[in-house]
Amino acid sequence: MRVPGTKGVDRVMPKPIREGNGPRHVAIIMDGNGRWAQRRGRPRLFGHHAGAKRVREIVEACPDLGVRYVTIFAFSTENWRRTQSEVAGLMSLFRRYITKEARALFEENVRVRFIGDRVRLDKKLVSLMDELEFMTSGCTGVNLTIAINYGGRDEVARATRRLAQDVAAGKLDPDAVNEETLPKYLDTCVLPDPDLVIRTSGEARISNFLLWQSAYAEYEFIDTLWPDFCAEEFGRLVTAYGNRERRYGGVKA
Ligand code: FPP
Repeated sequence: MRVPGTKGVDRVMPKPIREGNGPRHVAIIMDGNGRWAQRRGRPRLFGHHAGAKRVREIVEACPDLGVRYVTIFAFSTENWRRTQSEVAGLMSLFRRYITKEARALFEENVRVRFIGDRVRLDKKLVSLMDELEFMTSGCTGVNLTIAINYGGRDEVARATRRLAQDVAAGKLDPDAVNEETLPKYLDTCVLPDPDLVIRTSGEARISNFLLWQSAYAEYEFIDTLWPDFCAEEFGRLVTAYGNRERRYGGVKA
């Protein structure tokens, strides 16, 4: 594509992502809610509530950007170490979020899934998660995956345990275990690997998020605190990804 009116200078425009070079799957570490609230002299939960409001804007931006899958890190296996009141507040926020957003997500054709270990979550929350997954199971638009009580190492350990059980039961030949077999036991077994991982709030860590799946992902660590992250900035990062060259360990074509 040429830029019109550049008097013979063949300036090449960045390729629009709709040509298929944008990320199909974007994973997001939503960090910075606590600091966002602190800067306003408010309790940390105020920041989490503001952060939850941002999720819809990002999901709604996906179709136009060509993003088919978006996976968000809402609560890690390490987050139980926070104060009891923050943990309880987050769990209550998840329950309220699911109850309040279910209809809108369904009407917007969003397919919702949850990843993470549900065993430690309270029964009411788990039943709301199950209901929302069931309710949106026929939706064919954006795939929104919410990670709650999720840790990459924990996921690989749980997957390995189930794989070992299948081996012990004679259902799986140990010689058949390879890079294609193991992901079938991961929570993300039906999802493609993320192409782009975004972390907000200026921290350059991956904090145990999608460890196996992000082996070849591109990363964006940005300073914006999650409650300030908007569709416009998301769009910029998605477009920037479209202009990168991914080689998966190979060499330039
Ligand atoms: C990290 O920020 C954020 C979390 C541990 C919770 C993320 C949850 C939300 C964005 C809201 C809920 C989402 C849904 C889908 C309902 P932090 O508290 O560690 O921030 P800090 O580093 O500034 O302290």
